Amino acid sequence: MTAPIHVAVTGAAGQIGYATLFRLASGEIFGSHRPVVLHLIEVPPVMSALDGIHMELDDCAFPTLAGVQKHDSDHLEDGFRDCNFVILVGSIPRKQGMERADLIRINGPIFTNTGKAIQAAAAKDVRVVVVGNPCNTNCLIAMSHAPDVPRNQWFAMTRLDQNRAAAQLAHKAGRPVAAVSNVAIWGNHSATQFPDFVNAKIDGKPVPEVITDHAWLKGDFISTVQQRGAAVIKARGASSAASAANAALDTVKSIVTPTPAGSCFSAAVWSDGSYGIEPGLVTGLPLTTDGHNWRVAAGFKIDEFSRTQIDKTVAELKQERDTVKDLLP
Ligand code: LMR
Repeated sequence: MTAPIHVAVTGAAGQIGYATLFRLASGEIFGSHRPVVLHLIEVPPVMSALDGIHMELDDCAFPTLAGVQKHDSDHLEDGFRDCNFVILVGSIPRKQGMERADLIRINGPIFTNTGKAIQAAAAKDVRVVVVGNPCNTNCLIAMSHAPDVPRNQWFAMTRLDQNRAAAQLAHKAGRPVAAVSNVAIWGNHSATQFPDFVNAKIDGKPVPEVITDHAWLKGDFISTVQQRGAAVIKARGASSAASAANAALDTVKSIVTPTPAGSCFSAAVWSDGSYGIEPGLVTGLPLTTDGHNWRVAAGFKIDEFSRTQIDKTVAELKQERDTVKDLLP
Protein backbone atom coordinates (compact mmCIF):
# COMPACT_ATOMS: atom_id res chain seq x y z
CA MET A 1 0.00 0.00 0.00
CA THR A 2 1.50 3.37 -1.02
CA ALA A 3 1.90 5.80 1.89
CA PRO A 4 -0.59 8.65 1.71
CA ILE A 5 0.55 12.10 0.70
CA HIS A 6 -0.48 14.77 3.22
CA VAL A 7 -1.58 18.06 1.68
CA ALA A 8 -2.47 21.16 3.68
CA VAL A 9 -4.56 23.97 2.24
CA THR A 10 -4.93 27.25 4.13
CA GLY A 11 -8.01 29.30 3.39
CA ALA A 12 -9.66 25.95 2.71
CA ALA A 13 -13.21 27.27 2.95
CA GLY A 14 -12.62 30.22 0.62
CA GLN A 15 -13.47 30.14 -3.05
CA ILE A 16 -9.98 29.11 -4.18
CA GLY A 17 -9.62 26.55 -1.40
CA TYR A 18 -13.01 25.05 -2.14
CA ALA A 19 -12.16 24.74 -5.83
CA THR A 20 -8.87 23.04 -4.94
CA LEU A 21 -9.83 20.40 -2.40
CA PHE A 22 -12.01 18.12 -4.46
CA ARG A 23 -9.50 17.81 -7.26
CA LEU A 24 -6.72 17.07 -4.76
CA ALA A 25 -8.89 14.37 -3.22
CA SER A 26 -9.97 12.86 -6.54
CA GLY A 27 -6.64 11.33 -7.56
CA GLU A 28 -6.28 13.73 -10.47
CA ILE A 29 -3.16 15.41 -9.10
CA PHE A 30 -1.13 12.63 -7.46
CA GLY A 31 -2.52 9.67 -9.38
CA SER A 32 -5.23 7.11 -8.80
CA HIS A 33 -2.93 4.90 -6.69
CA ARG A 34 -1.73 7.56 -4.26
CA PRO A 35 -3.95 8.05 -1.21
CA VAL A 36 -4.31 11.68 -0.11
CA VAL A 37 -4.88 13.02 3.39
CA LEU A 38 -6.19 16.59 3.32
CA HIS A 39 -5.42 19.07 6.09
CA LEU A 40 -8.00 21.84 5.86
CA ILE A 41 -6.92 25.02 7.63
CA GLU A 42 -9.08 28.06 8.26
CA VAL A 43 -9.37 31.03 10.58
CA PRO A 44 -11.44 30.22 13.71
CA PRO A 45 -14.68 32.01 12.65
CA VAL A 46 -14.92 29.88 9.52
CA MET A 47 -14.25 26.47 11.08
CA SER A 48 -17.89 25.38 10.87
CA ALA A 49 -17.78 25.78 7.08
CA LEU A 50 -15.03 23.15 7.08
CA ASP A 51 -17.51 20.67 8.57
CA GLY A 52 -19.73 21.14 5.53
CA ILE A 53 -16.79 20.71 3.15
CA HIS A 54 -15.78 17.57 5.04
CA MET A 55 -19.29 16.18 4.55
CA GLU A 56 -19.11 16.94 0.83
CA LEU A 57 -15.69 15.32 0.54
CA ASP A 58 -17.12 12.19 2.22
CA ASP A 59 -20.10 12.35 -0.11
CA CYS A 60 -17.84 12.20 -3.17
CA ALA A 61 -16.60 8.77 -1.99
CA PHE A 62 -13.24 9.35 -3.65
CA PRO A 63 -11.29 6.07 -3.43
CA THR A 64 -8.05 8.08 -3.07
CA LEU A 65 -9.17 10.20 -0.10
CA ALA A 66 -7.54 8.57 2.93
CA GLY A 67 -8.44 11.16 5.55
CA VAL A 68 -9.53 14.71 6.29
CA GLN A 69 -8.20 16.82 9.16
CA LYS A 70 -9.55 20.24 10.14
CA HIS A 71 -7.38 22.77 11.90
CA ASP A 72 -7.73 26.40 12.91
CA SER A 73 -5.05 28.90 12.00
CA ASP A 74 -4.29 29.54 15.68
CA HIS A 75 -2.74 26.06 15.67
CA LEU A 76 -0.79 26.09 12.43
CA GLU A 77 1.77 23.51 13.53
CA ASP A 78 -1.02 20.96 14.02
CA GLY A 79 -2.31 21.85 10.59
CA PHE A 80 1.04 21.40 8.84
CA ARG A 81 2.14 18.32 10.83
CA ASP A 82 3.88 15.83 8.48
CA CYS A 83 2.56 17.56 5.35
CA ASN A 84 4.33 16.85 2.07
CA PHE A 85 2.62 19.71 0.26
CA VAL A 86 1.36 22.97 1.70
CA ILE A 87 -0.77 25.24 -0.48
CA LEU A 88 -0.95 28.70 1.08
CA VAL A 89 -4.14 30.33 -0.12
CA GLY A 90 -5.38 31.96 3.11
CA SER A 91 -5.02 35.74 2.83
CA ILE A 92 -7.09 38.84 2.09
CA PRO A 93 -7.82 39.13 -1.66
CA ARG A 94 -7.53 42.47 -3.44
CA LYS A 95 -10.55 44.53 -4.42
CA GLN A 96 -11.18 46.59 -7.52
CA GLY A 97 -8.76 49.50 -7.84
CA MET A 98 -6.01 47.85 -5.79
CA GLU A 99 -2.70 46.43 -6.95
CA ARG A 100 -1.59 43.16 -5.36
CA ALA A 101 1.28 44.97 -3.65
CA ASP A 102 -1.31 47.06 -1.77
CA LEU A 103 -1.96 43.91 0.28
CA ILE A 104 1.62 43.54 1.37
CA ARG A 105 1.29 45.04 4.84
CA ILE A 106 -2.02 43.22 5.41
CA ASN A 107 -1.01 39.75 4.24
CA GLY A 108 2.76 39.83 4.76
CA PRO A 109 2.60 39.34 8.55
CA ILE A 110 0.49 36.15 8.13
CA PHE A 111 3.44 34.52 6.39
CA THR A 112 5.94 34.93 9.23
CA ASN A 113 4.12 32.49 11.53
CA THR A 114 3.26 30.32 8.58
CA GLY A 115 6.93 29.88 7.72
CA LYS A 116 7.82 29.11 11.34
CA ALA A 117 5.05 26.52 11.61
CA ILE A 118 6.04 24.83 8.36
CA GLN A 119 9.59 24.50 9.59
CA ALA A 120 8.45 23.18 12.96
CA ALA A 121 5.94 20.61 11.77
CA ALA A 122 5.91 19.75 8.07
CA ALA A 123 7.57 16.68 6.54
CA LYS A 124 11.22 17.07 5.55
CA ASP A 125 10.30 16.87 1.86
CA VAL A 126 7.52 19.49 2.13
CA ARG A 127 6.92 21.55 -0.96
CA VAL A 128 5.16 24.87 -0.41
CA VAL A 129 3.13 26.72 -3.04
CA VAL A 130 2.18 30.30 -2.13
CA VAL A 131 -1.00 31.59 -3.76
CA GLY A 132 -2.02 34.46 -1.42
CA ASN A 133 -0.96 37.84 -2.79
CA PRO A 134 1.47 39.39 -3.24
CA CYS A 135 2.61 35.79 -3.59
CA ASN A 136 6.29 36.32 -4.49
CA THR A 137 6.99 38.45 -1.46
CA ASN A 138 4.75 36.42 0.85
CA CYS A 139 6.79 33.39 -0.19
CA LEU A 140 10.01 35.28 0.54
CA ILE A 141 8.71 36.15 4.03
CA ALA A 142 7.59 32.59 4.80
CA MET A 143 10.79 30.93 3.60
CA SER A 144 12.90 33.45 5.52
CA HIS A 145 11.23 32.19 8.70
CA ALA A 146 11.91 28.56 7.82
CA PRO A 147 15.66 28.50 7.18
CA ASP A 148 15.87 24.71 7.68
CA VAL A 149 13.44 24.03 4.84
CA PRO A 150 15.58 24.02 1.68
CA ARG A 151 14.95 26.98 -0.60
CA ASN A 152 14.23 24.77 -3.57
CA GLN A 153 11.08 23.54 -1.79
CA TRP A 154 9.34 26.92 -2.01
CA PHE A 155 7.26 28.18 -4.93
CA ALA A 156 5.00 31.16 -5.56
CA MET A 157 2.33 30.97 -8.21
CA THR A 158 2.94 32.47 -11.64
CA ARG A 159 1.15 29.57 -13.30
CA LEU A 160 -2.06 31.53 -13.60
CA ASP A 161 -0.12 34.02 -15.73
CA GLN A 162 1.41 31.19 -17.77
CA ASN A 163 -2.05 29.76 -18.44
CA ARG A 164 -3.46 33.19 -19.29
CA ALA A 165 -0.57 33.83 -21.67
CA ALA A 166 -0.98 30.43 -23.35
CA ALA A 167 -4.70 31.06 -23.84
CA GLN A 168 -4.09 34.51 -25.38
CA LEU A 169 -1.41 33.19 -27.74
CA ALA A 170 -3.56 30.24 -28.80
CA HIS A 171 -6.49 32.51 -29.49
CA LYS A 172 -4.45 34.97 -31.53
CA ALA A 173 -2.84 32.18 -33.58
CA GLY A 174 -6.14 30.33 -34.06
CA ARG A 175 -4.58 27.19 -32.61
CA PRO A 176 -5.66 25.00 -29.68
CA VAL A 177 -4.08 25.85 -26.36
CA ALA A 178 -2.35 22.46 -26.36
CA ALA A 179 -0.25 23.69 -29.29
CA VAL A 180 1.35 26.35 -27.06
CA SER A 181 4.39 25.44 -24.97
CA ASN A 182 7.46 26.88 -23.24
CA VAL A 183 5.69 29.92 -21.82
CA ALA A 184 7.86 31.59 -19.18
CA ILE A 185 6.62 34.22 -16.76
CA TRP A 186 9.47 36.34 -15.46
CA GLY A 187 9.48 38.33 -12.25
CA ASN A 188 6.53 39.31 -10.11
CA HIS A 189 2.94 38.04 -10.22
CA SER A 190 1.87 41.63 -10.73
CA ALA A 191 1.25 44.23 -13.39
CA THR A 192 5.00 44.35 -14.11
CA GLN A 193 5.47 40.65 -14.92
CA PHE A 194 6.92 39.71 -18.29
CA PRO A 195 5.02 36.97 -20.12
CA ASP A 196 7.76 35.81 -22.47
CA PHE A 197 6.54 35.45 -26.05
CA VAL A 198 10.11 35.34 -27.42
CA ASN A 199 10.83 31.81 -26.17
CA ALA A 200 7.25 30.54 -26.24
CA LYS A 201 6.31 28.13 -29.01
CA ILE A 202 3.24 27.27 -31.00
CA ASP A 203 3.34 23.85 -32.65
CA GLY A 204 7.05 23.80 -31.74
CA LYS A 205 7.83 27.02 -33.66
CA PRO A 206 8.87 30.30 -31.98
CA VAL A 207 5.81 32.45 -31.32
CA PRO A 208 7.21 35.52 -33.16
CA GLU A 209 7.40 33.36 -36.33
CA VAL A 210 3.81 32.17 -35.97
CA ILE A 211 2.27 35.45 -34.78
CA THR A 212 3.67 38.11 -37.06
CA ASP A 213 1.78 40.95 -35.38
CA HIS A 214 4.73 41.88 -33.19
CA ALA A 215 3.09 45.12 -32.09
CA TRP A 216 0.36 42.96 -30.50
CA LEU A 217 2.93 40.70 -28.82
CA LYS A 218 4.81 43.65 -27.34
CA GLY A 219 1.65 45.58 -26.51
CA ASP A 220 -1.82 44.13 -25.97
CA PHE A 221 -0.61 40.60 -25.31
CA ILE A 222 1.61 41.65 -22.41
CA SER A 223 -0.84 44.12 -20.93
CA THR A 224 -3.76 41.68 -21.17
CA VAL A 225 -1.83 39.07 -19.18
CA GLN A 226 -0.51 41.65 -16.72
CA GLN A 227 -4.00 43.08 -16.13
CA ARG A 228 -6.05 39.90 -16.31
CA GLY A 229 -6.51 39.57 -12.56
CA ALA A 230 -7.85 43.13 -12.39
CA ALA A 231 -10.13 42.49 -15.38
CA VAL A 232 -11.60 39.43 -13.65
CA ILE A 233 -12.18 41.42 -10.45
CA LYS A 234 -13.92 44.18 -12.42
CA ALA A 235 -16.18 41.75 -14.28
CA ARG A 236 -16.90 39.31 -11.46
CA GLY A 237 -16.82 41.63 -8.48
CA ALA A 238 -14.38 39.20 -6.86
CA SER A 239 -10.91 37.97 -7.67
CA SER A 240 -10.32 34.89 -9.75
CA ALA A 241 -11.05 31.67 -7.91
CA ALA A 242 -11.53 28.63 -10.16
CA SER A 243 -8.71 29.64 -12.48
CA ALA A 244 -6.46 30.40 -9.51
CA ALA A 245 -7.25 27.01 -7.97
CA ASN A 246 -6.58 25.36 -11.31
CA ALA A 247 -3.23 27.13 -11.57
CA ALA A 248 -2.25 26.08 -8.04
CA LEU A 249 -3.02 22.47 -8.95
CA ASP A 250 -1.18 22.79 -12.26
CA THR A 251 1.82 24.04 -10.26
CA VAL A 252 1.72 21.00 -7.97
CA LYS A 253 1.32 18.65 -10.95
CA SER A 254 4.24 20.28 -12.76
CA ILE A 255 6.45 19.94 -9.68
CA VAL A 256 5.84 16.18 -9.39
CA THR A 257 5.73 15.32 -13.11
CA PRO A 258 8.72 15.23 -15.49
CA THR A 259 8.57 18.27 -17.77
CA PRO A 260 8.02 17.32 -21.42
CA ALA A 261 11.18 17.73 -23.52
CA GLY A 262 11.58 21.17 -25.07
CA SER A 263 9.18 22.82 -22.65
CA CYS A 264 9.11 24.46 -19.24
CA PHE A 265 6.69 25.40 -16.51
CA SER A 266 6.55 28.71 -14.72
CA ALA A 267 6.76 29.31 -11.01
CA ALA A 268 8.43 31.88 -8.82
CA VAL A 269 11.39 30.48 -6.90
CA TRP A 270 14.41 31.72 -4.96
CA SER A 271 16.68 33.42 -7.47
CA ASP A 272 20.22 32.09 -7.69
CA GLY A 273 21.53 34.72 -10.11
CA SER A 274 20.31 32.86 -13.23
CA TYR A 275 19.59 35.11 -16.19
CA GLY A 276 21.18 38.07 -14.40
CA ILE A 277 18.42 38.31 -11.80
CA GLU A 278 19.63 39.44 -8.40
CA PRO A 279 19.94 36.52 -5.98
CA GLY A 280 17.71 36.43 -2.92
CA LEU A 281 14.37 37.33 -4.47
CA VAL A 282 11.43 35.06 -5.20
CA THR A 283 11.07 35.59 -8.91
CA GLY A 284 9.16 33.99 -11.76
CA LEU A 285 11.45 31.80 -13.86
CA PRO A 286 11.08 29.02 -16.42
CA LEU A 287 11.70 25.64 -14.74
CA THR A 288 12.06 22.01 -15.75
CA THR A 289 12.02 18.92 -13.56
CA ASP A 290 12.50 15.16 -13.67
CA GLY A 291 9.62 14.98 -11.18
CA HIS A 292 11.98 15.13 -8.18
CA ASN A 293 14.54 17.87 -8.70
CA TRP A 294 13.78 21.03 -10.62
CA ARG A 295 16.19 23.41 -12.23
CA VAL A 296 15.99 26.74 -14.00
CA ALA A 297 15.42 26.01 -17.68
CA ALA A 298 18.54 26.72 -19.70
CA GLY A 299 18.96 28.44 -23.03
CA PHE A 300 16.23 31.05 -22.91
CA LYS A 301 17.02 33.87 -25.31
CA ILE A 302 16.93 37.27 -23.59
CA ASP A 303 16.92 40.04 -26.19
CA GLU A 304 17.05 43.74 -25.41
CA PHE A 305 13.26 44.04 -25.14
CA SER A 306 13.04 41.09 -22.75
CA ARG A 307 15.93 42.41 -20.65
CA THR A 308 14.18 45.72 -20.11
CA GLN A 309 10.95 43.95 -19.15
CA ILE A 310 12.70 41.57 -16.75
CA ASP A 311 14.72 44.35 -15.11
CA LYS A 312 11.53 46.32 -14.51
CA THR A 313 9.68 43.51 -12.76
CA VAL A 314 12.75 42.53 -10.73
CA ALA A 315 13.06 46.17 -9.59
CA GLU A 316 9.51 45.92 -8.26
CA LEU A 317 10.38 42.74 -6.35
CA LYS A 318 13.29 44.54 -4.73
CA GLN A 319 10.97 47.37 -3.76
CA GLU A 320 8.51 44.89 -2.20
CA ARG A 321 11.36 43.28 -0.30
CA ASP A 322 12.29 46.70 1.08
CA THR A 323 8.69 47.33 2.14
CA VAL A 324 8.69 44.18 4.29
CA LYS A 325 12.24 44.54 5.61
CA ASP A 326 10.92 44.42 9.17
CA LEU A 327 9.25 41.04 8.50
CA LEU A 328 12.46 39.45 7.25
CA PRO A 329 14.72 38.04 9.96
C1 LMR B 1 -5.18 36.80 -10.13
O1 LMR B 1 -4.16 36.96 -10.79
O2 LMR B 1 -6.29 36.69 -10.65
C2 LMR B 1 -5.08 36.69 -8.63
O3 LMR B 1 -3.74 36.85 -8.23
C3 LMR B 1 -5.98 37.64 -7.92
C4 LMR B 1 -5.61 39.09 -8.17
O4 LMR B 1 -5.55 39.85 -7.21
O5 LMR B 1 -5.43 39.47 -9.32
